[in-house]
Amino acid sequence: MSKHKRTALIQAGIAKDAAHKSIIPPIYLSSTFEIDGIGQHLPYEYSRTKNPSRDDLAHAITALEGGLGTCITSSGMAALSLIIHLLNPEDLLIAPFDCYGRSYRLLCALSEKGHFKLKFIDQYDANEVARVFKDTPPKMVLIESPSNPVMRIADIADISAKAKACGAITVCDNTFLSPMLQQPLELGASIVFHSTTKFLNGHSDVIGGCVTTNNQDILTDLEFWANSLGLIGAPFDAYLTLRGMRTLELRITRAQENAMQIATMLDAHPNISTVYYPALPSHPNHEIAKKQQSGFGAMLSFDVVGTIKDVKKFVDALDIFSLAQSLGGTESLINHPATMTHVSMGEEARAKAGVSDQLLRLSVGVEHIDDLLDDLTNALKAL
Ligand SMILES: Cc1ncc(COP(=O)(O)O)c(C=O)c1O
Repeated sequence: MSKHKRTALIQAGIAKDAAHKSIIPPIYLSSTFEIDGIGQHLPYEYSRTKNPSRDDLAHAITALEGGLGTCITSSGMAALSLIIHLLNPEDLLIAPFDCYGRSYRLLCALSEKGHFKLKFIDQYDANEVARVFKDTPPKMVLIESPSNPVMRIADIADISAKAKACGAITVCDNTFLSPMLQQPLELGASIVFHSTTKFLNGHSDVIGGCVTTNNQDILTDLEFWANSLGLIGAPFDAYLTLRGMRTLELRITRAQENAMQIATMLDAHPNISTVYYPALPSHPNHEIAKKQQSGFGAMLSFDVVGTIKDVKKFVDALDIFSLAQSLGGTESLINHPATMTHVSMGEEARAKAGVSDQLLRLSVGVEHIDDLLDDLTNALKAL
């Protein structure tokens, strides 16, 4: 029976405990398992290689993303590190010029050490994508859509088809939307990954990641590297993440309703010059977002009119929105990318990516919308 995503998540691992018939799956913290005799093997022997609690989470994410299998990692950065271990030194990785600052830093640092070749391009221009793929055929293409923090939308189906035509695989960072709102594997990507720290766990109390693929050869390679490098997530974190994911659909639905109202209010405000939220018809990639997403998500950014001093006054005047690095929790957060998440990109790359000193990013939570609107409106009076 094929279930709706919400039902599948709420039912994941429920009432499957053979030992005591517990409704909620138990947590297996044991690092090792007893083997019956020399030469005999069990599904679970050593928790770096395979662990039942990590597998419960992996099965739920695989079903949500429509993949063949999932590796659970210790963070989103560990997920990206795992994926780029598929590359050889002569392979070219093409990445977006405006990706998450710490992804940008990791890719630059590893390519400088000779792990692979790297090119950042403007993936939002179909002609540029076609030209670059023809001139310098890649082995792997990384997409981050929507991009962090300027919310650009890459055409996943178009880029994946062009990548496939030159023998490359497409990898999509689906952190900002979650599998509830976007299915990159269905759109043609071969690998999808998340910082589960964000919407999947959803309660800002776990650092984690996951990598899902629909290709058996890729899955075998990913499992080899996850085990060999020890990039795996902890069983307790896997348990918490699966618990958080049970309410993913409820949380993201409410949070994106809130985000829409906030974007509309900010868009009409004289002290805000630009709002970056793909639901707005004025967003340059609005049509692609409508085509490939089933919702616009709970992340948005905006430029404040004024100087960095004005930006500080506005942030200091907020009461409900907390200034913090992360996103995707039930609570609303605000981030100043230029000095926080994207500081390691450097000034030049930030300017190119559109990350100005006046840019602020919101992770909209599930609080009552009236309180969120009041908080922002009051703080805007400080400008
Ligand atoms: C889009 C995106 N990808 C990856 C990551 C890295 O995830 P983590 O912090 O769990 O390592 C982040 C973190 O903010 C992110 O926003």
